[in-house]
Amino acid sequence: MFVSRAYVPESLRPDDHRSWPYTVPAVAEVVERGVEFTHPVTFLVGDNGSGKSTLVEAIAEGFKLDARGGRAARRTGSADTTRTPLGEVLRLETTARGGRMLAGPRLKKKGFFLRAETAFSMTENLGGVPGYWAENTAEMSHGEGFLAVFRSMFRDPGFYVMDEPESALSFTACLQLVALMHDLGESGAQVVCATHSPILASTPGADIIEVGEHGLRRVKWADLGLVDHWRRFLDNPTSYLRYLTEE
Ligand SMILES: Nc1ncnc2c1ncn2[C@@H]1O[C@H](COP(=O)(O)OP(=O)(O)OP(=O)(O)O)[C@@H](O)[C@H]1O
Ligand SMILES: [Mg+2]
Repeated sequence: MFVSRAYVPESLRPDDHRSWPYTVPAVAEVVERGVEFTHPVTFLVGDNGSGKSTLVEAIAEGFKLDARGGRAARRTGSADTTRTPLGEVLRLETTARGGRMLAGPRLKKKGFFLRAETAFSMTENLGGVPGYWAENTAEMSHGEGFLAVFRSMFRDPGFYVMDEPESALSFTACLQLVALMHDLGESGAQVVCATHSPILASTPGADIIEVGEHGLRRVKWADLGLVDHWRRFLDNPTSYLRYLTEE
């Protein structure tokens, strides 16, 4: 483990909570109470717009993760120093190991940030770049490319922040990613991952935080709203679809 908590110090709290991102309940809770990381693998699960990306981006920024794996994948070469509004005020409590890594030289920082919107250009731009992966993902399918990238990027026990890494993956590829994440956690790494995938969220031993109108709450996999919806949908798709297709 590298990061044990994310919080906003008293002195950096906003005067006005009526502007974004403080209007997002999950962000408001982090400002008020912070969020703890107690397991090597933590998932943030919640509806569109619940604040998962806002949180994981700020956490990645807080650990100074190589932005090339993140938003700067759009413009290779230029280091991205842009900070998000939450990233400017969010601070991380690190473990002794996390503190050493954060204070150490950039090359000793292990881990990366996979940002949903830029993941694809990342696989296109970074193949063969030292420190990334050797495989030529241009000769692979979209999903194969992602799995190859994950496999080789997950080598070191570092801090990995991911935003919907399942996007390109099939059912079986998601299961493979579960195995990779689990092994990563066992190896001494730490993963914080936003996901819509009930498969990823089922990673053995992972902690799950449900993000929503209520703010943040820890739940068991079987009690996730997402899992409940999938169960009911797979059981009887018509029960959902008739509301959408009825005139
Ligand atoms: N730069 C921004 N300025 C203003 N509002 C924003 C900005 N970025 C996101 N939002 C809003 O903040 C809320 C949380 O967005 P966020 O992207 O964190 O959600 P999310 O949980 O990642 O959703 P999804 O599952 O769709 O990726 C949303 O209501 C969104 O519209
Ligand atoms: Mg998002």
